[in-house]
Amino acid sequence: MKECSGYPLRMPASLRAVAFDAYGTLFDVHSVAALAEQRFPGHGSRLSTLWRSKQLEYSWLRTMSDRYAPFDAVTRDALRHSARALGLALAADDESRLMAQYASLSAFPENVAALRALRELGLPLAILSNGTSAMLEISARSAGMHELFDRILSADAVRRYKTHPDVYALATGAFDCEPGSIVFVSSNGWDVAAGAWFGFDAFRVDRSGAPPEELDAGPIATGHSLADVVEHVRARLARERNSAHARNGKRRRSSSATGAPK
Ligand code: LAC
Repeated sequence: MKECSGYPLRMPASLRAVAFDAYGTLFDVHSVAALAEQRFPGHGSRLSTLWRSKQLEYSWLRTMSDRYAPFDAVTRDALRHSARALGLALAADDESRLMAQYASLSAFPENVAALRALRELGLPLAILSNGTSAMLEISARSAGMHELFDRILSADAVRRYKTHPDVYALATGAFDCEPGSIVFVSSNGWDVAAGAWFGFDAFRVDRSGAPPEELDAGPIATGHSLADVVEHVRARLARERNSAHARNGKRRRSSSATGAPK
């Protein structure tokens, strides 16, 4: 950053909001594995893992080829393909039960307390996700988190999926700020890397012990749960307060040295 008379020309963006990825970050996508295991003993975990990875692959392919379909349809298609790939006979009733379970995925246990703590720090919170608004509303309500979010931002509004920058821009548009003013939290390595590319203060919740992606995305803070996000945000707010004090002190000192009116 260029300096002029000891003062930065542009102040670093101050924190305005915290935005959360939904699937895998707020909601446990593998909580469907138990239901899948009941129906297909010995295959629940493999089905849930392949289902998730096909869901993401389809979202990327549809975005790259400009073939948007809503996330619930993408999720259903991924389930059908995964069951077939594993040689599992997925009846219409199995499909509706698994899809219904997907609509009310379990939330991670620390979420509500951490989200409350962030609100107490005075920051608005958002969900920023590939899910349709209806999917996200239902999941947030069934996890008792709905009233903690100021905005639910769905990729459906731009008919593209992450990692298209238009999706991340929903957050800067909603809070009318630059990317650096938003802490973006995701447990998906690729999502948090793309958020950092976009310019967010990106935070990775490492829930699985996976190594960070090799994507040249720059510094990404990491923790293990949403409670660590609260610490990251607290520390950033404290740094911002300290530099505001230091700047005010410098200004007071320089105006008394030049005799300028206070
Ligand atoms: C989402 C997926 C990518 O919530 O986890 O956007």
